[in-house]
Amino acid sequence: MYNQKVIDEFRNPQNAHEMPDADCVGEVGGPECGDIMRVYLKIKDGVVTDASFLTFGCASAIATSSVATRLVKGKTIAEALKVTNKQVVQELGELPAQKYHCSVLAEEAIKDAIDNYYKQHPELKQ
Ligand code: FES
Repeated sequence: MYNQKVIDEFRNPQNAHEMPDADCVGEVGGPECGDIMRVYLKIKDGVVTDASFLTFGCASAIATSSVATRLVKGKTIAEALKVTNKQVVQELGELPAQKYHCSVLAEEAIKDAIDNYYKQHPELKQ
């Protein structure tokens, strides 16, 4: 059901760890599947300097978390907010239709983390 890229990313995910000193955390869940995705970000001077995740879910949830955290690293907050689930899917080549929502969760988890960052630092909101 998965292509080789998704399988490789699932077997060797990048950034799959907790980040106790994260500046913000985002968490989203799939209402139908019950999977949970948590994203941790470190932000310095408006740039995402580090990103990691803990995902309790399917193979494609783990693969998309891995790709999404990789995509936002080194980006400004504004650029990170523009990372879409489509880009995540593109990086993976493709996802089965019934697994598309996993990529949506990855995008939402990043946005939720940044949202929480701005809740803590409303003065920094651009
Ligand atoms: Fe729901 Fe993958 S099946 S996140």
